[in-house]
Amino acid sequence: MTVIVVSNRVARAKSDEPIAGGLAAALIPMVRDWGAIWVGSSGQTADAAQTKDSFARIEALGTGALATVDMPAKHYRGYYEGFANSALWPALHSRPDLIRVTAEEYASYREVNAFMARALLRFVEPDAVFWIQDYHFLTLGAEMRRLQIGRPLGFFLHTPWADRRTMAAVPHHADLVEAMLSYDLIGFQTDEDRENFEDYLQFELGLSVFDGAVTSRAGLTHLATFPIGIDVEEFSSRATKASTRADVNRLRASLHGGKLVLGVDRLDYSKGLANRMRAFDRMLESESQLKRNVSLLQVAVPTRGNIRAYRELKSELASLVGEINGRHGEVDWIPIRYLNKSFSQLTLAGFYRAAHVGLVTPLHDGMNLVAKEYVAAQNPFDPGVLVLSSFAGAARELDAALMVNPHDVDGMARQIAAALAMSLDERRERWHAMIGKLRASSVQNWFADFLRTLADTRRTPARLATSRPAKLPVVLDLKSRSAQRH
Ligand code: UDP
Ligand code: G6P
Repeated sequence: MTVIVVSNRVARAKSDEPIAGGLAAALIPMVRDWGAIWVGSSGQTADAAQTKDSFARIEALGTGALATVDMPAKHYRGYYEGFANSALWPALHSRPDLIRVTAEEYASYREVNAFMARALLRFVEPDAVFWIQDYHFLTLGAEMRRLQIGRPLGFFLHTPWADRRTMAAVPHHADLVEAMLSYDLIGFQTDEDRENFEDYLQFELGLSVFDGAVTSRAGLTHLATFPIGIDVEEFSSRATKASTRADVNRLRASLHGGKLVLGVDRLDYSKGLANRMRAFDRMLESESQLKRNVSLLQVAVPTRGNIRAYRELKSELASLVGEINGRHGEVDWIPIRYLNKSFSQLTLAGFYRAAHVGLVTPLHDGMNLVAKEYVAAQNPFDPGVLVLSSFAGAARELDAALMVNPHDVDGMARQIAAALAMSLDERRERWHAMIGKLRASSVQNWFADFLRTLADTRRTPARLATSRPAKLPVVLDLKSRSAQRH
């Protein structure tokens, strides 16, 4: 079968480049090794005349291919900054108070989904299976069915699915969810997300789920949980290799024998960064012997900077960090090293290994791959301690981490201090419990499990509409694909 993966954000294979977010980080190795075609936004927009017969620029990505399309200039902003990231993202992360959206932005969201469906027509093949990723494309499956694409359609949500009342705060929520039911299989990160979706179906749409599937006007849709993982061996070998990197050496040398607590996040309100800083502050207040002996390195990568909530968060954090550093700092020691820049995964792996504590405290997160990467990068003989929010999807598997409630600043302060003081025996015991689970639920397993389930999915005759429309260029095989540039 030819697997066509579709997402808004894509990434290239260069190991020295940072990756923007967990979706792209997870898909890169899979497209590279599986030989899938990955279709997404080029990061450029073009006006309607150019995008009408949208074409894809295609390049090789390992044994797979990356096909990027210019998005419609008139609608991209309303779709990306507007409906996707100012209505859906806040609601999915249980922040309906941050929803700011207009009717035009919803129209743009629908337009871009319809545009992407047209762009996908060229990939329709008798053996094609389409796997759509994330909240940018909730309605893409319905648009594809409208274009008579009858191939199997899977969808995976990388974020949480919030409780039904929160999701009902999204304008047009019922239309969106009805459109989602055009997919044959919808995958969630955790059982709780899937159950929230089932609740939504029952109480908002009056639809019941039997045996993991729901029947709607669009046909039969299967619902299942597929927790996303990482390439564990790759991360652990990166952590060893990274010890020679300049940034990693300079970081180690700068500690002067002190301990390092590390946070790595996009600068997003879902990540709980302000409470994390407050907890570190509280710990220094109550455990004053730790002063000068511990530092927090927080990598906070700017993201979605045209959206007001993100700009406000950036200035809130800058002043909070300045205030904490001003109060505790000394001429030769700063408690919080706060960086608004990104690093390659190779360098990050070296940072993870150098850190005595990995601090992952989101208020709500679909999975959180940083938590998994931190564990995979540890030295098995002298591992660091993961302090993990119970509101991250990763907490389901990584239950041997030190768990925290990210709303409880005092509790977090105590757990960070406990992590710094933990004995080698306990650190090793916890690490062994976690690494075993990570190996059992790798990104390779995630990819294969989803596709196997999608292939097994029995579709109703209504879904088996005819497939390939005439006159569209069809990409035939990966070798010629890598050579194609339109
Ligand atoms: N990442 C990166 N460079 C950075 C910061 C993060 O490559 O400077 C990667 C990181 O390795 C991880 C991903 O970005 O794979 C973040 O994924 P996560 O699931 O933790 O959070 P998301 O950003 O998707 O909400
Ligand atoms: C999260 C989302 C992804 C998104 C990533 C980075 O991981 O689930 O869909 O790609 O954040 O956000 P961005 O807006 O930069 O693509």
